[in-house]
Amino acid sequence: MATSPRAFVLRHTQLLPVPGLEEIRLHLAPEVLPLWRAVQVETGDADASLPYWACAWAGGLAIGRYLREHPEAVAGRRVFDLASGSGLCAIASLHAGAAEATGADIDHFAAAAIELNARANRRRVAVVRRDVLDQEPPDVDVILAGDCWYESRLAERVLPWLRLARRRGIDVLVGDPGRRYLPTDAFVELASYEVRTTTDLEDLERKPGRVYALDA
Ligand SMILES: C[S@@+](CC[C@H](N)C(=O)[O-])C[C@H]1O[C@@H](n2cnc3c(N)ncnc32)[C@H](O)[C@@H]1O
Repeated sequence: MATSPRAFVLRHTQLLPVPGLEEIRLHLAPEVLPLWRAVQVETGDADASLPYWACAWAGGLAIGRYLREHPEAVAGRRVFDLASGSGLCAIASLHAGAAEATGADIDHFAAAAIELNARANRRRVAVVRRDVLDQEPPDVDVILAGDCWYESRLAERVLPWLRLARRRGIDVLVGDPGRRYLPTDAFVELASYEVRTTTDLEDLERKPGRVYALDA
């Protein structure tokens, strides 16, 4: 890679308020597909992942709205944001009074984006840049999982891991706009919000973003 992930994120995004969560600002890309092409060129990898980190996804937006309405879900607690992307859920949890927040993502541009976004919001988010799904769940009080159900392989791995965490006494909140691989039977719906996504990849500009809890 010619430039650092941090410099790349800064070059290709604008710091903008998040639709529906204007108290949070993120480094967002106005259009994802040209940025995806830039990622492919930068990494020399035609199969590079979409720049998920440059959007506020519907699932994360729903979790952010829920935490604004229900800060008691995270206030004073240790939060782990699985599949963090931009860090939106971790940052929203800190706005709601979380004691500490960690964002985990496998994408090194996401790791840079989480740090930049945390700083832009005058917050600190610890970053884990590895696949944690083959490991024990972390020692935290709450796991947030925003928009994790868009591909089958990831969905198959996330649910058992979240269940294991729940059996260990960790609260689990999932945010999702009705993605194909969401196992709705596994969850209890807590709230629904109309969210406006910023991406040019979605079929609709507004979506119902639902927040679910994983039952004990
Ligand atoms: C659709 S984005 C959601 C981002 C954010 N939670 C939100 O709602 O805006 C999904 C994210 O999951 C990340 N991801 C995919 N597989 C992962 C894994 N095994 N562990 C952690 N993150 C993963 C991707 O890199 C991507 O950033």
